[in-house]
Amino acid sequence: MPMIVISDLDGTEHRLSAQAGETVMQVGRAAGLPIIGECNGSMACATCHVIVAPAWADRLPPIGEDEDATLDTLFNLTATSRLGCQIAITAALDGLELRLPQR
Ligand code: FES
Repeated sequence: MPMIVISDLDGTEHRLSAQAGETVMQVGRAAGLPIIGECNGSMACATCHVIVAPAWADRLPPIGEDEDATLDTLFNLTATSRLGCQIAITAALDGLELRLPQR
């Protein structure tokens, strides 16, 4: 079972097991982290914003046009920002490191 690591705002690392196919948004939300996912993955809200560790950024599928447009609405966008609802966990992403953005 793949595992992802999400650092929260105080730097605490949450090591979370994920089923293949689950999204970062689903895994983080189920763990009680403040990843809201208001639109449930339809790329309309950006409340699932996560920041990918630079070493992992190029290992994710590229950002699509719709994801890019939604990310552009964020005031706290970074070079490795992604929508957590668009990152589906696979075995290749075992160990994926992310952090939550300042709000
Ligand atoms: S859950 Fe709304 S954009 Fe990801």
